[in-house]
Amino acid sequence: TVTAVLAVLASYLLGSVPAATWVTRARGVDIRRVGSGNSGATNVLRSLGKGPALAVAAFDIAKGAVAVLLARALGLEEPWAAACGVAAVVGHNFSPFLGFRGGKGVATSFGTIAALDPLVGASAFVLAIFTMWLTRFVSAGSVLGAAAAIVLVAVLGRAPWQVAVISGLALMLIFLHRENIARLHAGSERRLGEKAEPVR
Ligand code: G3P
Repeated sequence: TVTAVLAVLASYLLGSVPAATWVTRARGVDIRRVGSGNSGATNVLRSLGKGPALAVAAFDIAKGAVAVLLARALGLEEPWAAACGVAAVVGHNFSPFLGFRGGKGVATSFGTIAALDPLVGASAFVLAIFTMWLTRFVSAGSVLGAAAAIVLVAVLGRAPWQVAVISGLALMLIFLHRENIARLHAGSERRLGEKAEPVR
């Protein structure tokens, strides 16, 4: 159990590494002051372009996946591996490096869910990417992908703790998108490919 608790704490620390904030800062950009102000790959795309955005997305996905895989490599039971994945997402969303603020956990939740439940992760991913491609709204794709994950774990009859973990991650993601959802309703959400403008 000591190993498990240490693994959860280490996962939280790994998740809290704010790649989007640090990569943009290295290029002289304060990500809180451009686009949506969010510390995530979508906002890196707006402020720095595709290359840095892909790198940040890959790093943030890896934070979730590595947390789960490392727990398994340590021989921990699957619920502890799930706890490590959740800790990485919580670290990303509430990072001590950002005064306990952070991103919305889309990439890190995906990495965690894909490692815990590849079928659910892949299905949610396909729906999310398709929605993003169709609507050009990353937020709409993220929220729909999360909603799909909740439906899928229920429909597939996963164990109660798996339903709780994956639905919990999805609900946190949707909650953190409440401003995006309001903008989608108001018709003022930023579309994919829009360049950064000062925070409004
Ligand atoms: O990366 C999170 C995405 O779903 C929305 O990001 O910057 O448009 O709020 P953003």
